[in-house]
Amino acid sequence: MPKSNHDDSRTKWNLRHAERELATPASEVLQQHAAMLPKQGNALDLACGLGRNAIFLAQQGLECDAIDVSDVALARLKNFADEQNLKINTVCADIEKNGLASKQYDVIVVSYFLYRPLFEAIQKALKPGGLLFYQTFVQAQTEHRTNSKPVNTRFCLKQNELCVAFQNLKIHYYNETPLDPIGDKAPIAMLVASKLASAATD
Ligand SMILES: C[S@@+](CC[C@H](N)C(=O)[O-])C[C@H]1O[C@@H](n2cnc3c(N)ncnc32)[C@H](O)[C@@H]1O
Repeated sequence: MPKSNHDDSRTKWNLRHAERELATPASEVLQQHAAMLPKQGNALDLACGLGRNAIFLAQQGLECDAIDVSDVALARLKNFADEQNLKINTVCADIEKNGLASKQYDVIVVSYFLYRPLFEAIQKALKPGGLLFYQTFVQAQTEHRTNSKPVNTRFCLKQNELCVAFQNLKIHYYNETPLDPIGDKAPIAMLVASKLASAATD
């Protein structure tokens, strides 16, 4: 049978995640706004990779689903979670192909993953009052940078794109890192937003 895009993507990420260090610090947007996290509840780390955000969320007392297409990353995360007694449920799924299950969460984290058709499903997957933390690369500024590797614009946000995409949520924090024409740090956007407590649950 011919290999699908799904197989190619899984192979690529499996190779990367076999080598990388586990339990690195959580994404900045989550660390900087950790005080907003509920003391209990459930959370989702979407496209979790080795699960640095899931680990952080579970360490704060939340039960966390960690979803990724890479079975290698999830096996490593599961071992670590079991060793550390952390409540992390790993789920191997292609979310670009299959979307999200109908479950709802108190907290959702998306870091360095962008698949725009999922924006609506992400909002639906928040419980009323639930919090979304999103952090990834921004495209517009990247185009002006001279001293960096080229970045595939399919994986980069437009300026303010997260604010527009999640305009139905209450935005607590939004920041895009400033233009850095000579640095080698790619610019990013960070969003913290919540679903109105009165919002319909679907
Ligand atoms: C740049 S990594 C980010 C990992 C993690 N969120 C972090 O910040 O450390 C992108 C992740 O998206 C996952 N991914 C890519 N396409 C996917 C898909 N279609 N379904 C599920 N996960 C996917 C990859 O396996 C990889 O772990």
